[in-house]
Amino acid sequence: MFSRRSFLRCLYGGVLLLFLPSCDQPETELALETLGPILPYIQNVKTDRVTVLWQSADKEIGTVEVYEDNGSLVTKVSDSPVSFHEIEIRDLSEDTLYYYQAKEGKIRVGPLRSFRTALPEGSKTAFSFIAIGDSGYGTQPQYKVAAQMLEYASNASFLIHMGDVIYDGYEGEYRSKYFEPYRSFIHRIPFYPVIGDHDLVDDGKPFYKYFSLPKNNIEGSEDYFSFNFGNALFIGLNSNTIINSSNIDSQVQFLERTLQESTQTWKFIYLSHSILTTALGRGSKPSIGRIVSPIAERFGVQIIFGGDVHAYERFFPRVDYTENGDPVTYVTTGGGGADLRDLAGSPDEAVGKSAYHFVLININDMTLTGTAIDFNGNTIDSFELSPTGN
Ligand SMILES: [Fe+2]
Repeated sequence: MFSRRSFLRCLYGGVLLLFLPSCDQPETELALETLGPILPYIQNVKTDRVTVLWQSADKEIGTVEVYEDNGSLVTKVSDSPVSFHEIEIRDLSEDTLYYYQAKEGKIRVGPLRSFRTALPEGSKTAFSFIAIGDSGYGTQPQYKVAAQMLEYASNASFLIHMGDVIYDGYEGEYRSKYFEPYRSFIHRIPFYPVIGDHDLVDDGKPFYKYFSLPKNNIEGSEDYFSFNFGNALFIGLNSNTIINSSNIDSQVQFLERTLQESTQTWKFIYLSHSILTTALGRGSKPSIGRIVSPIAERFGVQIIFGGDVHAYERFFPRVDYTENGDPVTYVTTGGGGADLRDLAGSPDEAVGKSAYHFVLININDMTLTGTAIDFNGNTIDSFELSPTGN
């Protein structure tokens, strides 16, 4: 007997799925990925919407069908004939599991996939997210980190990325250095990268093509942005401009206003550079710290994540720029796959390790636990934080 879900899988996921153990990891994907097309993946998941993207071999009309868990069709959205599809599905319900099937004409593109819409702002429901950075080498360490993410963090709701998604960020590099290493995630876990200096190739066009990010800054760009998930606020910055102090007024105003208006329990900033580091040959970045850190301290940001330094570091919570500000924890997560950097270490640092890794953050209402896991599955750091600034 088919369960209702099995029936839905077979009906919409294609005959091929009858012979596969799960919708989530069909073995035929590899061949398709390397041939050219990029299979459907999701971005920018909100409480009421999701964006589905994929690349066709030729210009085709793309359609995304969305189903409820019980198999009933919720909506169906098509675009015009294009080779790269970016279809936003709206009017969905919050914190709800959906299934989606991309099609070109009547042909199914990839198997039936699933995603879950975001927790509403202020929700106390527990959730987790992944943080990584500096991943895009396409070499074994990147794949090993991804394998550990699958092992330890497959239930994460989303992933924040510190940039250097691709070395160097040409469009043709994306298959082997992004889509293939993360093929088990990106159809159901949205990635929210900030742009790294290596992603700036071709004015960042490949980066902005492949990532659909929130466009909620005053310029309506994806250059820097914020989003809420449950009781947490996330602000992604473009530190490549902050480090040069070039045209940053609107970004700084966005940062300040977004934090000022937020009533969220947890607040996080992430950016490509590490404001604090003990890396040899790669110093701290006070030019960024002077701009970002005082605002973080004033508005109770608990963690500033950074990358660029290819290692893991966590500093003890600290106040550097304000009289009565709240302590900020600086975490460097730049060990996603690119060649590692040595660290000098410091008494200010709780943990510093030159290791390929990812960070898993679990939030359960007023409790945050963080774990850094290396590419062999070993825990290299674990910590707890309490809310501040509320
Ligand atoms: Fe890097």
